[in-house]
Amino acid sequence: MEIHPAPAQVADFHQVLADHPRYWGDRDLRSLHLLAMVQEFGPTCLVARAEDGIRGYVFGFVTPDGTGYVHLIATRDDYRGTGLGRRLYAAFAEAAAGQGARRLKAITAITNTRSIEFHRGLGFDAEFVDDYDGPGRTMTVFRRDLPL
Ligand SMILES: CC(C)(COP(=O)(O)OP(=O)(O)OC[C@H]1O[C@@H](n2cnc3c(N)ncnc32)[C@H](O)[C@@H]1OP(=O)(O)O)[C@@H](O)C(=O)NCCC(=O)NCCS
Repeated sequence: MEIHPAPAQVADFHQVLADHPRYWGDRDLRSLHLLAMVQEFGPTCLVARAEDGIRGYVFGFVTPDGTGYVHLIATRDDYRGTGLGRRLYAAFAEAAAGQGARRLKAITAITNTRSIEFHRGLGFDAEFVDDYDGPGRTMTVFRRDLPL
């Protein structure tokens, strides 16, 4: 049965942190997970909650200039390639558009080829931006217009 992403609860936040390696592998991105986002940007922090736990999540917000910014998106290791990431983006895009967003943006490491392919598959442009993350730290910046 298809799972419809729903706003994250505080318990969901702690669950995805506890299972962090299942979403992010060896990379430790726990410090980028902020409970304040779930508390303050509830409608754009979504989880795919099922009987076997949280299969994926997207945490983001809408900026004052109408950009739906995706801060984190991940699907659990056993649900990759099933279309869940696409569904999470669609749900985020719908929620962001409902708040006036006209475009989407996300950032990832230049080494994250899976994320780059995923975002390109969703129609994003990918640009390497020098010094985005500080001197000498190039990041990949994804952009696309809404609707998705
Ligand atoms: C990136 C990630 C969220 C993709 O989620 P997913 O559920 O596997 O993606 P989907 O199955 O919805 O794929 C959507 C599209 O992206 C493309 N895609 C996804 N993963 C891909 C890969 N590894 N290589 C090439 N294309 C890929 C596919 O073309 C797919 O298109 P289709 O629907 O026409 O088949 C997932 O791999 C993940 O959680 N990675 C670890 C966390 C991470 O790096 N997040 C991104 C940080 S910005």
